[in-house]
Amino acid sequence: MPVVVVDHPLITHKISILRDKTISAGKFRDLVAEITMLLTYEATRDLPMSETEVETPLCRARVKTLSKDDFVITPILRAGLGMVPAMLSIFPVAKVAHIGLERDEETTLPRTYYFNVPPELEGCTVILVDPMLATGGSLSAALDLIKERGAKSIKAICLIGAPEGRDRIERDHPDVSVYIGAMDERLNERAYIVPGLGDAGDRMFGTL
Ligand code: PRP
Ligand code: URA
Repeated sequence: MPVVVVDHPLITHKISILRDKTISAGKFRDLVAEITMLLTYEATRDLPMSETEVETPLCRARVKTLSKDDFVITPILRAGLGMVPAMLSIFPVAKVAHIGLERDEETTLPRTYYFNVPPELEGCTVILVDPMLATGGSLSAALDLIKERGAKSIKAICLIGAPEGRDRIERDHPDVSVYIGAMDERLNERAYIVPGLGDAGDRMFGTL
């Protein structure tokens, strides 16, 4: 079950608009935030709950709340940054780790240029965010890096993937669940997702 396509009309609708090359960077960012929220709803369905008590205006009531609040939102730079505000609106007390990875245009292999993550991740719930799962090289490398810091409870949220990336993550990291909004047909000769949405970072930050 590691890569789960979240098949929901709202997500599919918004991703269809996201693909349109004529939308502005601002519209692109807004949609990324909305889709991230919808995917997070599904990705967090199994979070553990604990019982506690609260005084309502009418009586004392037994209620349930999240058992843990040690979330570490971890965007893969750059494009993952566009998913952070939506995540923080849901998890306001979360820490934010940053992993800078960029694909070499020739080899398509990821290169790490920044790594700023809490020293100890054991006991935390790490949620990696990156809009695109193409070859899977970037997400796989990011997962290796956070596992070296002790992370055990890990999820990832992506917007669009390709079968090649799905297969790579299922092979390299079968313990990690990845929630994704759409699984596209294939990669092209430059390892871009087809039909995809182009370069997510460039579209998000207007650097086309
Ligand atoms: C994009 C994307 C992923 C990666 C996916 O980042 O945001 O991190 O490519 O490709 P992969 O699955 O083949 O590794 P990119 O390297 O273009 O950097 P950017 O976000 O800074 O534009
Ligand atoms: N990175 C992107 O931004 N888009 C793709 O299609 C593949 C990798």
